[in-house]
Amino acid sequence: MRIAMIGSGYVGLVSGACLADFGHEVVCIDKDPEKIAALNEGRMPIYEPGLDALVAENVRQKRLAFSTDLKPAVAGAQAVFIAVGTPSRRGDGFADLSYVYAAARAIAEALTGYAVVVTKSTVPVGTGDEVERILREARPDLDVGVASNPEFLREGAAIGDFKRPDRIVIGAEDARAAAVMQEVYRPLYLNQAPILFTGRRTAELTKYAANAFLATKITFINEIADLCEQVGANVQEVARGIGLDNRIGAKFLHAGPGYGGSCFPKDTLALVKTAQDYGTPVRIVETVVAVNDQRKRAMARKVIAACGGSVRGKRVALLGLTFKPNTDDMRDAPSLSIIAGLQDAGARIVAYDPEGMEQARPLLQGVDYAEDAYACAEGADALVIVTEWNAFRALDLARLKATMAAPVLVDLRNVYASADAEQHGFAYAGIGVA
Ligand SMILES: NC(=O)c1ccc[n+]([C@@H]2O[C@H](COP(=O)([O-])OP(=O)(O)OC[C@H]3O[C@@H](n4cnc5c(N)ncnc54)[C@H](O)[C@@H]3O)[C@@H](O)[C@H]2O)c1
Repeated sequence: MRIAMIGSGYVGLVSGACLADFGHEVVCIDKDPEKIAALNEGRMPIYEPGLDALVAENVRQKRLAFSTDLKPAVAGAQAVFIAVGTPSRRGDGFADLSYVYAAARAIAEALTGYAVVVTKSTVPVGTGDEVERILREARPDLDVGVASNPEFLREGAAIGDFKRPDRIVIGAEDARAAAVMQEVYRPLYLNQAPILFTGRRTAELTKYAANAFLATKITFINEIADLCEQVGANVQEVARGIGLDNRIGAKFLHAGPGYGGSCFPKDTLALVKTAQDYGTPVRIVETVVAVNDQRKRAMARKVIAACGGSVRGKRVALLGLTFKPNTDDMRDAPSLSIIAGLQDAGARIVAYDPEGMEQARPLLQGVDYAEDAYACAEGADALVIVTEWNAFRALDLARLKATMAAPVLVDLRNVYASADAEQHGFAYAGIGVA
């Protein structure tokens, strides 16, 4: 099949490369000429494990190409995916759909024959209806289908998730569009990945419901962690104790500094807004959003408490800036709120992240960057583990302590056992471990 992917970010680029790997002919489009130039030179504009090799192989096989020119890619394509950003709209928190609608207008001008326009971007209920309206208004002559195919991949494990998904959700309003989508995913069908065909609005809502549920699960265990600290219990053991129950499941029960990233914060907020608009507020999710927002800043207070109540003039070293390991994505990372809280309290910040420092620099002022974890800790009054990169899992605690000004370890991901850290002479503060 010929496929056009509009938007070559984390989702568009991974999806495009994987669809090409299935044997389709894919052109990934982006309006950012630097991104496309980098891709055409074989450089990845994002960090995602395995992506460079996958892209290189499919470019070599001539199944994958990159361009800023939407028209020729869309003309003759049987499926045109929209994978542009849907960030929170400034001011009110609704999903900003301007990129999606701009893409729809450009697609309308470029289509030549029957094609299915597919929203892969996470979009509120009813966006597919509006995309269809835009297409038909611009080109009443058009023979076109509009489908929803939300993406569930996780950054850091994106290729595996796309190729071996738990499920594929396709929202289509007619059999013809559904048949095209079935053909797109036929290689996965053979692998017996469950494919759910639903109405378009159902597919759109399924994505938000999934993210809101996962965000709720994280927030739930985070609140249990706070309670553990007060009552002298251990959240990791509680999580294991409940996670072994199949009805609950062990995943997404790791207490931490609050969820961040490019999806959960904006998607929970957008769901809250949609539900309010329809007069059926989702109060659990509203609470999750509020609890999580407060939690990120509270982590700065936790560091301050671990430093004896003040960080004024102190040097605080942060390990990990990205919202999770194995990505360079800094969008809504908890580190941003934590650093702001510490700087407000007068701390000097030094940070190290294996992949995120380039994206972090424009977002942070007055932060020094170190070359590795040990250099970061040098002379610090406290060491804070913010993101659980593998590189931080087996640090030489004795070596760290020897170079630090004060042996304070705040472990926001519970990477180290408190007994171990204390044995090495650290004052240790984890999450939900008394
Ligand atoms: N990042 C994730 O882990 C993830 C997972 C599932 C779903 N999603 C959803 O997928 C969508 C895309 O997310 P992302 O993280 O890939 O965003 P991104 O910001 O990395 O990529 C979006 C890209 O679209 C390009 N673009 C915008 N308008 C365009 C246009 N009119 N024509 C061509 N290119 C255009 C931008 O230049 C950018 O490169 C969002 O709706 C997001 O919620 C993201």
